[in-house]
Amino acid sequence: MTTAPKGLEGVIAAESTISFIDGAEGVLEYVGHAIGDLAQHSTFEETVYLLWNQRLPTRSELADFSAALRERYEPPAGMRELITSLPKSAEPMHVLRTMVSALSMHDSSPNDNDPGSARSKALNILASTPTIVAYFDRHRRGLDLVAPDSSLSYAENFLYMLNGEKPTETMARAFDICMILHADHTLNNSTFAARVIISTMSDVYSALTGAIGSLRGPLHGGANEGVMHMLNEIPSVEEAESYIMGKIERKEKIMGFGHRVYKTKDPRAFALQGLAERLASDTGNQDLYAKSHKIELVMERELGAKGIYPNVDFYSATTYHCIGLKLDLFTPMFAMSRVAGWSGHVIEQLEDNRLYRPKAKYVGPHAVEYVPIEQR
Ligand code: SDX
Repeated sequence: MTTAPKGLEGVIAAESTISFIDGAEGVLEYVGHAIGDLAQHSTFEETVYLLWNQRLPTRSELADFSAALRERYEPPAGMRELITSLPKSAEPMHVLRTMVSALSMHDSSPNDNDPGSARSKALNILASTPTIVAYFDRHRRGLDLVAPDSSLSYAENFLYMLNGEKPTETMARAFDICMILHADHTLNNSTFAARVIISTMSDVYSALTGAIGSLRGPLHGGANEGVMHMLNEIPSVEEAESYIMGKIERKEKIMGFGHRVYKTKDPRAFALQGLAERLASDTGNQDLYAKSHKIELVMERELGAKGIYPNVDFYSATTYHCIGLKLDLFTPMFAMSRVAGWSGHVIEQLEDNRLYRPKAKYVGPHAVEYVPIEQR
């Protein structure tokens, strides 16, 4: 038996055909398709089909898949009441974790894991998460809920339910690209969590509920909110350098930088940087982009040699802000998209399952005598 490094760094824990990363070269592929190609030419709905079926759909297959998704936009009866019964102060990621779990109670066969059932449950969750997030955000703002519109695409519909008006084509496309970019990323912590849970032959809802719990962590999906907090703390572009230098000197981690696998700039960061720059210019947020770009230059000069570069969360913060999303909705956005990858990996695990059960290296005492409580 070999002892794996802490955090399973560098350990291969599964075989997969869903996505591939070259951390040295900064490459990310979904079933062999370069992430830049998909961001430029594909849609989130088409990308989900690719991740779940190992190939791009024909036109009619995509139409059928989109129709099946859109007819599930509205969660089962009773979910609305549950969402509006929650405290308005609740954290959106806790709401999402709770409501995905609640979805299982409206499924007549929640534990079926045959291929057809697993895909159907994945589709339920994929379709419901935007509605859950939008419903809760309007509830906490004291606004009427806006029912989904199944004539709209996944991206258009979410922004419509959130804002009560249909988005511009630019905003809808920008959001759709963000969803493509966040959809999968090999065996990141939350995806591994989903595979570990489903490997006990538990159910899809439990696996994705666990994944949501993992993603909210600030070292993982929660970093995009941390980036926005940082950008808001920096008073001006001119003060960005001193702010970052101070964090480096205090050995504080800068959110949105570094990665366990990438030791160069995350390929998704390039696509998101372009989006952020364009949207910042369109929405009068040039300063936000300028601060981000200044931070990137300082970090490259100071920590580039250590392989610490922007990851997916750095420019997604500016992009989401310019789309008009509230800061504490950034990680729910990440989760909405990553439902695609988590589900793909759950489907793949079920196809060739083996229970995950590693060992721990025991470093505690042995043969300890029991001392009655009176003598302790
Ligand atoms: C995501 O795994 C995935 O694929 C995740 C993800 C996905 O799509 O699913 O890509 C999404 O989670 C992106 C990462 C988001 N997290 C952050 O932006 C948080 C800030 N980043 C760090 O916490 C860190 O870079 C991690 C957690 C992302 C990776 O950490 P590792 O691999 O455990 O590396 P480490 O913490 O051991 O750091 C190694 C060195 C240390 O310095 P030394 O002690 O060796 O001197 O690099 C330094 C760290 O201090 N370092 C940083 C840093 N990240 C690492 N220093 C300053 N700022 C940082 N952000």
